[in-house]
Amino acid sequence: MLSFDGVSFTYESGNSILDNLSFNILPSEFISIIGVSGSGKSTIFRLVTGLDEPSGGTISLEGNPNTQRLGKVGYMPQQDLLLPWRTILENACLPLEVAGLDKKAAKEQVQPLLQEFGLGGTEDNYPGELSGGMKQRVAFLRAVLSGNSLLLLDEPFSALDAITRLAMQEWLINLWEKRKSTVLFITHDVEEALFLSDRIFLLQNKPVTSFVEIEVPLERPRIRNDLHRAEMLELKELLIGKLRSEVSL
Ligand SMILES: Nc1ncnc2c1ncn2[C@@H]1O[C@H](COP(=O)(O)OP(=O)(O)OP(=O)(O)O)[C@@H](O)[C@H]1O
Ligand SMILES: [Mg+2]
Repeated sequence: MLSFDGVSFTYESGNSILDNLSFNILPSEFISIIGVSGSGKSTIFRLVTGLDEPSGGTISLEGNPNTQRLGKVGYMPQQDLLLPWRTILENACLPLEVAGLDKKAAKEQVQPLLQEFGLGGTEDNYPGELSGGMKQRVAFLRAVLSGNSLLLLDEPFSALDAITRLAMQEWLINLWEKRKSTVLFITHDVEEALFLSDRIFLLQNKPVTSFVEIEVPLERPRIRNDLHRAEMLELKELLIGKLRSEVSL
């Protein structure tokens, strides 16, 4: 579905983020990326979307190297990027309109989803009138509605309260199972990564030359209690330990 082959990337400031990084993601995998702040997670997403281009190496989507990637992946950036002059409903409808659906048909399709996302009654509001968590859910919905089979979600639930976060995780898992999409998910929450993912990529060292890769040993469907198994608690401690070793305060 997605592969990096010897990819390097350095910002113009000379800040080297990736150095000869290779990895491979299979169709319908759910992958979480974790790493301390500034380790290069969002940069990887910008490279996948085509917003930035690598300084070396090859990025392939569905086996095609160096094709135009812009618009081919569903992307929820770390900042919600809602259009302030469009209402919530109009913002959520954007991907469907871009895909060629007329405004009325798009609204009919999106309206029931707003309800499901706890955004009922906000359709005529503007982004500036919503809480951070609500805006995040609109942005999440919009990425999902792009209909692309590869979804990149950059800390999609970071601004949500614990209960809403659990509901959104379940919604995402259901969607992923139904649509067989491939998900790349950035999070700082180790439990969230363990609960959702097939594999976890941990960024260590800078520039990033490889990931520490962890396969999550849980069957699906999963229940939250699975996280309390001894092996899962051990894995959680291992991940936290590795992340902590990267933080120097
Ligand atoms: N546009 C840019 N120009 C120059 N340097 C940048 C730019 N964007 C990010 N960086 C730098 O690149 C490094 C990686 O940034 P990135 O946003 O990928 O981190 P991250 O892992 O997503 O962090 P966080 O968890 O805080 O979101 C940081 O040192 C950051 O300062
Ligand atoms: Mg980031």
